[in-house]
Amino acid sequence: MSKTAELIIDGKSYTLPLVVGTENEVGIDIAELLEKTGAVTLDLGYKNTGATKSAITFLDGDKGILRYRGYSIEELAEKSNFLEVAYLLIFGELPTQQQYNTFSHDIKTHTLVHEDVKKILDGFPSTAHPMGVLASLFCSQTAFYPESLDPNRAVDGVYLSIVRSMAKMPTFAAWAYKNAVGHPVNYPDNSLDYCSRFLKMMFALPAEQYEVDPVVASALDKLLILHADHEQNCSTSTVRIVGSSKASIYSSLSAGINALWGPLHGGANQEVIVMLEQIKKDGGDTEKWINKAKDKNDPFRLMGFGHRVYKNFDPRAKIIKKAADDVLGKLGINDPVLEIAQKLEEAALKDPYFVERKLYPNVDFYSGIIYRALGLPTDLFTVMFAMGRLPGWIAQWKEMRENKEPIGRPRQIYTGATQRAYVPVGTRG
Ligand code: SDX
Repeated sequence: MSKTAELIIDGKSYTLPLVVGTENEVGIDIAELLEKTGAVTLDLGYKNTGATKSAITFLDGDKGILRYRGYSIEELAEKSNFLEVAYLLIFGELPTQQQYNTFSHDIKTHTLVHEDVKKILDGFPSTAHPMGVLASLFCSQTAFYPESLDPNRAVDGVYLSIVRSMAKMPTFAAWAYKNAVGHPVNYPDNSLDYCSRFLKMMFALPAEQYEVDPVVASALDKLLILHADHEQNCSTSTVRIVGSSKASIYSSLSAGINALWGPLHGGANQEVIVMLEQIKKDGGDTEKWINKAKDKNDPFRLMGFGHRVYKNFDPRAKIIKKAADDVLGKLGINDPVLEIAQKLEEAALKDPYFVERKLYPNVDFYSGIIYRALGLPTDLFTVMFAMGRLPGWIAQWKEMRENKEPIGRPRQIYTGATQRAYVPVGTRG
């Protein structure tokens, strides 16, 4: 394999170094391109552009491979748990039993939030989308922990911010939900594991006992593992670029939450259920909706289908599809939209439009069906995605800071007006 690439501009040849990763991905290092050639590259949406070198997550879109720190998503989903996967992503290795116990204990001791958070929560109308509440509560942590604003803090300070973020995410998420339904918030019960603690904060009511269903807690734990990281996706790139200005971890994570909210990204899991309900209400005619998705004059897209990178099955979608059958079976739930989803997938995977464009179900296509079976309200689905993605965002932010990466500042190709003289208002128009 050659170590360089040759670029010819106006007959002049330039040699650019090649970078090869541990999975043999090849990158053209253009760090000196502008200085050497006077030209920049242009790549809308960065589909062909590597923004960094990272040792955290590897995915192969053609082969449908996803690995966290070298471990396959299939193995981790089957054998690990969310906190262990969070530790693996953030610190690079699977924890020893002692390391796991310490990490889990440290998180438990930070699950409470400052009582003044309730005043912020009270400022939100019950109609506020929980993602907006979550992003605000995360950013508010800069006010309660002003030392986090110091970009040069010692490593242990970063560890404390990491533990606080992991610890308070479920509390924020559950409190955002309680604010939406007008119920009193619940305090975390540290005798429970991570997912059970969240479920109890979500669904317990002061008027009665609440027991967490282990089937529900286990299914949620698996879903959080599947969402934990995904290379340089939209929200992770947002966390990195905000963090590159040495903004605090809380501001960076809040920015990631906002990016994830979009319906083309994490917001798709909510849109999938809205779409399936629409199809059900419309009589379940999947062919009609497939044709709408194919119609260039129709803004409708098949939500939960397609991916920026996967041009094969999203390995997470396969695992979630199987888990959906298991969970609904164990909970004795017969959700008609599951059948519609399966019919839609079957029809789309045979249709040339989707086959030619390599559009497959992605992580969001089936996840909403499980969240709904777990009793979660639709507008909390993307909050679940954020809870899962949190350790990935943290790991990527930490790697970017440890590698002392420069502040992110992409260039552009200017296409606006060339120089022109100012015109007094009386002579315009
Ligand atoms: C996530 O990046 C990540 O890793 C993200 C994520 C993560 O874990 O972080 O995996 C999570 O965001 C999953 C994606 C969730 N979004 C959706 O399900 C929304 C529906 N999907 C699309 O909007 C779309 O597929 C994207 C945005 C996901 C990907 O868009 P691309 O790769 O830029 O594809 P494109 O928009 O260039 O489309 C290519 C063609 C177009 O048709 P032509 O112009 O070639 O005729 O495919 C068509 C598109 O119109 N197309 C679809 C479609 N997705 C693409 N047509 C109908 N339905 C769809 N869903």
